[in-house]
Amino acid sequence: MTDTLEQHFDATIEHDRRIEPRDWMPDAYRNTMIRQIAQHAHSEIIGMQPEGTWITRAPSLRRKAILLAKVQDEAGHGMYLYSAAETLGADRTDLTERLIAGRQKYSSIFNYPTLTYADVGVIGWLVDGAAICNQVPLCRSSYGPYARAMVRICKEESFHQRQGYELLLTMAAGTDAQRAMVQDATNRFWWPSLMMFGPPDDASPNTERSMAWGIKRHTNDELRQRFVDMTVPQAEKLGVTLPDPDLRWNPERGRYDFGTIDWDELTAVIKGNGPCNAQRVERRRQAHEEGAWVREAAAAHARKAALGADG
Ligand code: ACO
Repeated sequence: MTDTLEQHFDATIEHDRRIEPRDWMPDAYRNTMIRQIAQHAHSEIIGMQPEGTWITRAPSLRRKAILLAKVQDEAGHGMYLYSAAETLGADRTDLTERLIAGRQKYSSIFNYPTLTYADVGVIGWLVDGAAICNQVPLCRSSYGPYARAMVRICKEESFHQRQGYELLLTMAAGTDAQRAMVQDATNRFWWPSLMMFGPPDDASPNTERSMAWGIKRHTNDELRQRFVDMTVPQAEKLGVTLPDPDLRWNPERGRYDFGTIDWDELTAVIKGNGPCNAQRVERRRQAHEEGAWVREAAAAHARKAALGADG
C-alpha cells in the first residue's frame, strides 16, 4: 500500500513523534498551529506592558534589575514564538498587523491594570504560575519548533514565578500596609488567572481537535484544576486569602473544589472590552510605528552584508 503524505502525518501523531516544518500537514493543523503560536507570541509581547510600567518605579536597584530582566525575557519569548510561526509560512509583520487590527487575540490576563508594586509579585506568582502549568505540557506539543521553543520559555517562566513569589514573601514579612497590598493584588488577579486557561471544556471549540493532534496535551479544565491544587498551599504559606468562599479541599476527589468563574467577564475581555484592551493595543500600535526605522535599518544592513559576502 502506498504510504501517502496524510498517512505519514497520521502515523507521526499516532507514534507521538514531532511534525517538522518540511513535513506535509493538513491545512487545518497548520492554521491551528499558527493561530495558537501567534496568540502566544502576541501575549508575550503585550504582556511586557503591565509590568514594564513599573520598571521606572521599582523600589530598589535590585528589584529594578530583576524586573528589567524579566520583561526582556518576555520580548525574547515573543521572538522565539514568531520565529516558530514563520516556520509554518506565517509572516511576522502580517501577524503584528492582525494583532493591532484586533483580528488576532492575546491572553485576557494582560488587559487588567497593575496598580501597585505588589502586582508585579502577584503576576509572577499567579500569572506566570498559570503560564507554567499551561506551557510545561506544551514542551511535548506535536509541532517540533513550538515544542522546542517551549522548553527554554518554561525554564525562564519558572524564574519569573520564583521572583514573584520571593517578592511577595518579602512584602508579607514587611508592614501591615505591605501585607494589605499583597492581599489586594491577590484579590484582583485570582479570578483573571483562572480565566487564562480558557473557557470550560464544554464551551471550548478547539480542545477536542487540538488534543487529537497532540497540539494540546490536557484540557482547559484539567489544567485549571492543577493550577488551583498547586496554588492553594502557596497562598497559605504566604498568609493571603484567595477570594473564593467556595474554595475547599474535597477529600473524595483529592483535589480542591472552587467557585464558579464569571465566564461573561472572560467573554467580554476576549472581545476587547476588558479594562485595558484599548490601551494595550494602542500602545502596541505606537511601538510598532515608532520601530519602523529600526526594522528598515536592520533590513538595509542585512542587504549590505549579503552583498559584501557575495563580493
Ligand atoms: N485569553 C484570550 N483568548 C482566549 C483565552 C484567554 N485566556 N482562552 C481562550 N481564548 C480564545 C481562544 O484563543 C479561542 O479563540 P480562537 O478560536 O478565535 O482562536 C477561543 O477563546 C476558544 O477557546 P479554546 O477553544 O479553548 O481555544 P484553545 O484550544 O486555543 O485553548 C489556550 C486556549 C488554552 C489559551 C491555548 O491556546 C493555549 O494553551 N495557548 C498557548 C499558551 C498561551 O498562549 N499563553 C499565553 C498567556 S501566558 C503568558 O504569556 C505569560
